[in-house]
This record gives sequence, structure tokens and C-alpha cells, in this order.
Amino acid sequence: MAKILVTGGAGFIGSHAALHFARQGWSVRILDNLSRGALLKKADPNAEHNWNRLAEEPGIERVRGDVRNAADVEAAVDGVDAVLHAAAQTAVTTSTVDPATDFDTNAVGTFRVLDAIRRTGRKASFVYCSTNKVYGENVNNVPIEEEATRYRFASEHAEGIPETFGIDLCEHTPYGCSKLTGDLYAQDFGHLYGIRTGIFRMSCIYGTHQFGMEDQGWVAWFVIAAIRNAALTVFGDGKQVRDVLWVDDLVRAYEAFLERGPKTGVYNMGGGPEMTLSLRELLSQLSDRLGRPIEPATGPWRPSDQKVYVSDIRKVRAELGWRPEVTPEQGVDRLLAWVQEHESAFSHL
Ligand SMILES: NC(=O)c1ccc[n+]([C@@H]2O[C@H](COP(=O)([O-])OP(=O)(O)OC[C@H]3O[C@@H](n4cnc5c(N)ncnc54)[C@H](O)[C@@H]3O)[C@@H](O)[C@H]2O)c1
Repeated sequence: MAKILVTGGAGFIGSHAALHFARQGWSVRILDNLSRGALLKKADPNAEHNWNRLAEEPGIERVRGDVRNAADVEAAVDGVDAVLHAAAQTAVTTSTVDPATDFDTNAVGTFRVLDAIRRTGRKASFVYCSTNKVYGENVNNVPIEEEATRYRFASEHAEGIPETFGIDLCEHTPYGCSKLTGDLYAQDFGHLYGIRTGIFRMSCIYGTHQFGMEDQGWVAWFVIAAIRNAALTVFGDGKQVRDVLWVDDLVRAYEAFLERGPKTGVYNMGGGPEMTLSLRELLSQLSDRLGRPIEPATGPWRPSDQKVYVSDIRKVRAELGWRPEVTPEQGVDRLLAWVQEHESAFSHL
């Protein structure tokens, strides 16, 4: 039986991936230090939700450990055929107030995992959860057009941002820098040491079991706040657009890479031009479904916020024979139903 290590397996994406691979017959080990709540410096009563739900699943071994710690990582990669590296400090805002923890977790942590794989000599495949933030402020130089409820890229970028887009000579935020460091090391370890490497530069991923907060996971956060009538702020004018990808669609892409991907692949990953959503459009769908107006407060634009980000997914579609299936409308309805069903988990809001 093939064995996969999922770092950050108690997180949103990692837990979905762990469950998916276990149900496909993989033996799964997760490594997580359960730090999400502490890192975000907030009491997070849901921090262990995904860790706990995996306990009920056969075929999943849960290991508490830290990707910054070489001994923890070495033990975790022992005997595995693949690693999905999802552990990270994930909030841009946190990275600006505590760049040292962000760097240690994202840059050093990724290096530790890659180096541990290298030292086993076993050449486990490596899948890296990278981010569109590697392109930093360069994205804001793309000409955009303004419409009633959204911005959109002008026609020459209608297919979105490709993998060849510039990654440097601009501002990034510490999170963008630390994730880019991991992205470059992953590419290099692929080339230099023959480790099979799939790098997914992800846009906005959303789904069930996601505990979105104001500074990370905006789709889930808007849905949770709308249902709970919690204070919600739209920073900027709300016309910001992202391509959004339902988490199960993402996990299918990871699986496709492991099954039939090339030796090294770097992919921009999201819903692409056909699966996009603006903040205003999301609020309008939520108001429609809940049958009441949602009236958020407004705040200033956040540093490095991109007015539009849409992934060009032609490469991942062609190389992995993959395509996104869940539309934003379907996904938001599913998420809404899940939060309503689990509303007690959000009673602190
Ligand atoms: N969710 C998105 O839209 C999105 C977009 C782009 C990139 N990503 C990347 O995808 C990955 C997963 O994101 P997510 O949304 O599931 O976030 P998440 O915060 O839900 O999951 C991250 C997990 O990593 C764990 N972790 C943090 N530091 C650790 C450490 N030092 N050692 C071990 N575990 C540690 C946390 O406890 C958490 O369970 C991250 O690498 C993130 O940068 C996510």
C-alpha cells in the first residue's frame, strides 16, 4: 500500500486531502503542531476540529510535530512514497507583524521537509501548497477594467495569470517571500536531486471544514459571519475578484499529479476565468439565500490586496487532464449548508 505524509494535515486543505487519500486506499500519516489558533493570536475554539475528525477515519495515523524541527520531520517522512506539504503560517496579516515565525514555518519548514526527503534516498514525490502571492505586487500592474460589481483583467490577460509571470522586482509581504522561498527550493530539489515535485500556486480555495477568519479564508469567513450576524468588514470597495476553487477539486489535482504528472510541474491553480467571484457578488448571493440584507462595515484597502487575481489554468488542465467542476454558486450553497448544519461550532461569534 502506498503511503503519503500530509504536513498540516489538521488544517483545512490538509485534512480534506488526508481523508481523500485514505479513502482511495493510501496509508496516510499527518504531521501537525495544531498551531493555527496560536499563530493567529486568537482563541480559536475550532483549532482542533480537523485533527479530531480524522481520528474517526481508518488508515490515518496522526502525529503531533513541527515542520521546523528536523527530528520530527525526519521521523515523519520515514517510509513514505509521497509528501503533501500543506503546513504553513497562512495569514498575510500575521506575517507582517511576526515575520520571524512566518519565515521559520514557511521557508525553514519547507526546507526541512525537502531535505529530509533527500536524505532518505527514497525520493518520495513532493507536492507543495504554494500561493499566488509569489507574484506579489506585479499582479497589480496588469491593466484592469471596472464593472458594476467587479473588476476584471483587461482583454490581454483574459485567461488569467500564467506560471511565467514575473515573481520578483516588486513587493510581496513576508508571507509571499517565505512561500516563494519554499516554492524555489522545491523546484531546485526537483532539478538537483531528482525528487518528483508538483508545485501548486493556489488562488482562493474554499470548502467545508474551513474556519475562515477576517485575515484568511474570505469566502468561508463571509459565509460564517453572515449566518452568525457577526461584524463583517469589506476592505476596499468590494469589487475585488478572485478565481475560487472548491477544495475537493483541488485535491483531485494533487492526486492527478501523483498518478500521471510529469517529473516537475509548476501550476497556477484556481477555478480559472470561469469560476470567479467578487466580494459584492458573494454578499449578494448570501443575502439572497438568507432572505435578509447583509450590511458589512467598510474599511480601507489592505496592503498588497490585489484588485483581481485569476489563475491561468490552461497548463494544469493540459498536463494533468484535470478541470474544476464545482461552480462558485454551487460551492457557496454547499458551504452555507455545512455552516448552518454545524452552527454550534461557531457559537463564539
Ligand atoms: N486556503 C487557501 O485559499 C490557500 C491559498 C494559497 C495557498 N494556501 C496554502 O495551502 C496550505 C494549507 O492552507 P490551509 O488553508 O489549509 O491552512 P490551515 O491554516 O487550515 O492549515 C495549515 C496547517 O498547518 C499547521 N501548521 C502550522 N505551522 C506548523 C508547523 N510549524 N508544524 C506543523 N504544522 C504546522 C496548522 O496547525 C494547520 O493545521 C498552506 O501552505 C497555505 O499557504 C492556501
